[in-house]
Amino acid sequence: MLLTGAMESIENRLPGHVGIIMDGNGRWAQSKGFHRVAGHRRGAKTVDTVVTACRKKGVRFLTLYAFSSQNWTRPSLEVKALMELLAEYVRLERDKIMANNIRLMAIGEIDQLPDSVRQALMGLINESKNNTGMTLCLALSYGGQEEILDAVKKICARSVAGELAPDDISKTEFENALWSGFLGPVDLMIRTSGELRLSNFLLWSCAYAEFYFSDRMWPEFDETDLNKAFDAYANRNRRYGAVGK
Ligand code: FPP
Repeated sequence: MLLTGAMESIENRLPGHVGIIMDGNGRWAQSKGFHRVAGHRRGAKTVDTVVTACRKKGVRFLTLYAFSSQNWTRPSLEVKALMELLAEYVRLERDKIMANNIRLMAIGEIDQLPDSVRQALMGLINESKNNTGMTLCLALSYGGQEEILDAVKKICARSVAGELAPDDISKTEFENALWSGFLGPVDLMIRTSGELRLSNFLLWSCAYAEFYFSDRMWPEFDETDLNKAFDAYANRNRRYGAVGK
């Protein structure tokens, strides 16, 4: 009885949906005298470590900010390298994703991605669609304001067509129109590199997210750092605007 209670409380303190802003690749590389792209390459290894650790812990949804709508303005060499890394990640991690029963998903303007990346991505999304262990969602060509605007357009179109009266636009209807609606609210949002910003990531779903900022650059973020974030989350008192217990 006691054991069940203890296990339940541990489970309750595990974030169901974790978002990560993987920041600091460029600075990490430059501090070592490398090109920024070397930081992204090393950052892809951290992705592997963190995905495996989250799966092991029992996280249900993990959303990684891999490429923002605004990242297209970076130098073309960096954008090209990031796109190649994404395609390589999907190719190299395929067996592990399938063996670990992970469902791969993506949010953002996926049609903006180069054909080779989109095809590799869509192939694994399709292949892993019935996996039930954890959902790994890559935010690609993603912006939170862009997502909200897109949802508004979809809702307006339904309203103009007479399918949805303005008074019937509920939070649930709105969430269903968001790219990220299927992920549910973010419980824990982690950002590395010491920056204290949300940077247009999951704006709607972070309404009651707990934030954890790590000073570590993403390429050097490891399982110990992740555990610190989870421990911090476990000790938060989430009140959702109500009075605490
Ligand atoms: C932000 O660091 C990071 C990015 C814009 C890209 C994140 C990409 C990866 C971690 C690798 C590829 C992803 C996957 C899913 C395999 P920054 O470059 O802005 O760092 P800085 O602030 O130090 O310049």
